[in-house]
Amino acid sequence: MSRKNLWVSAAVSLGLVGVAVAFGLMWRPTIDPIERPTEFDSAQIARGAQVITAGDCAVCHTRPGGKYLAGGLPLVTPFGTLYSTNITPDADTGIGKWPLEAFERAMRDGISRDGHFLYPAFPYKHYRLLSDNDLADAYAFLMTGPPVYEPATPNRMKFPMNIRPLVSGWNLMFLRSEPFPPTAQESQQWNRGRYLVEGAGHCGGCHTPLNFLGAEKDSHALSGSVVDGWEAPSLLGLAGREKPWTQAQLVGYLQAKVVDSHGTPAGPMRPVSQELARLPVTDVEAIAAYLLSLPASDSTSNANSVRTAVAEESASLGRDLFQGACAGCHGTAAPMRSIDGRPALTATSAVQASEPVNFIKTVLEGIAPTPGEPGPVMPPFAASLNDQQLTALAQFVRNQANPAQPWSDLNATIQALRQETP
Ligand code: HEC
Ligand code: HEC
Ligand code: HEC
Repeated sequence: MSRKNLWVSAAVSLGLVGVAVAFGLMWRPTIDPIERPTEFDSAQIARGAQVITAGDCAVCHTRPGGKYLAGGLPLVTPFGTLYSTNITPDADTGIGKWPLEAFERAMRDGISRDGHFLYPAFPYKHYRLLSDNDLADAYAFLMTGPPVYEPATPNRMKFPMNIRPLVSGWNLMFLRSEPFPPTAQESQQWNRGRYLVEGAGHCGGCHTPLNFLGAEKDSHALSGSVVDGWEAPSLLGLAGREKPWTQAQLVGYLQAKVVDSHGTPAGPMRPVSQELARLPVTDVEAIAAYLLSLPASDSTSNANSVRTAVAEESASLGRDLFQGACAGCHGTAAPMRSIDGRPALTATSAVQASEPVNFIKTVLEGIAPTPGEPGPVMPPFAASLNDQQLTALAQFVRNQANPAQPWSDLNATIQALRQETP
């Protein structure tokens, strides 16, 4: 063998070893399916319901108008759109055949029963902090719920993030959190609060800034971030603010009530607080006590960068949604426009109007076909877009048409029109 060939073959075999090692890291074994277990005692199921509530599972796993926990809610990430999955105990489309071991592996390591990696938009980084008992209880609750047949909606992740095994690299870099023992110097209430905030509550999922790979910056935990175009403010130093939070105000706010000086949660915090309101009040008190003990962070600069990021993120969320859900018909290149010479959406009266009502109503309800006649048809989006997504979409489209006069009160309009939508 010539010297040169030797080098080539060495390089090739090293490469193969590298690939083999990488693949070893990138795949996980399948866990064998089982017959759905249903024998659990009712106290355990009731405890499990609380874990599921504390974990906001329904906020992501139930789409507007959809069946409880049957999935299908779009989550727009900088890497593409991801749909939550069906976690009802349906044997074919849900987790009905999952043994407890498979559920624990998904919740702690982000690996599905068949061995594929789950995207970290599913906050397993936090759920891995849950105790064995809490996970077993959650499992008992899920397995005894009503099974719903609802196949998964295919994800639309962009290259390279559409290659799931890449998540293994993400996990190696960022999946560091480990269950922590109670801190002896602190009260039981404080420890419970920390467990709920860091674990099931996954408050950092929204309140901690992300790095460019979409991982939480642990060194800036809870110092404020951006989610779906909303500012999720810093949760540090709440007791020392210009308008300080009291324990009573914080407990009320976290339970979706209206409180003095601070109002009530809106946007993505609304469903979180509605879930917290269903927990025993002692748990909410524990969360509040823990938060109030957190000192302010040293840097105030994060607040400003959060503001700028809010504006940018909302714009890109709106653009991504338009590309994904509307451009197929309303984009410049859409056949509907080139064939029939229709106006751009920005030129229509719905988008030119000073109020967003008609725009939002059209998107919620769509345009039903006239029976027996060919004519324009547009699907209704009430069930697939949540309020934040609708807001970002409306802002994006309006900004294309009339940037000088943005629509105000979008959230109130959406709420009101949702009530009317059948
Ligand atoms: C922030 C949104 C979000 C929350 C909150 C959330 N999930 Fe998920 N979950 C997802 C997404 C998105 C997926 C799909 C990930 C993928 O396909 O890679 C998922 C996947 C899963 C899976 C894997 C299902 C499968 O078929 O592989 C399980 C199990 C699961 N979630 C359970 C839960 C439980 C239990 C809770 C509450 C304690 C919860 N999730 C809360 C977004 C969420
Ligand atoms: C899905 C994203 C999301 C999650 C998860 C989330 N929050 Fe929030 N939170 C927000 C947003 C957005 C706001 C701003 C809401 C508003 O302005 O009405 C907010 C506001 C707050 C505020 C008010 C802060 C202030 O200065 O006004 C508190 C307190 C709070 N959240 C606590 C929590 C706690 C505790 C948890 C975990 C149990 C949590 N949040 C989980 C998104 C989230
Ligand atoms: C399957 C094709 C289709 C999709 C997808 C679609 N639309 Fe439409 N849309 C239509 C048709 C057809 C009309 C009727 C107007 C026409 O024929 O020119 C319409 C009308 C509208 C109007 C009223 C315009 C007017 O003439 O006053 C608005 C606003 C609108 N769409 C917004 C959206 C938004 C926002 C999305 C994405 C969430 C969307 N549409 C997705 C087909 C579609």
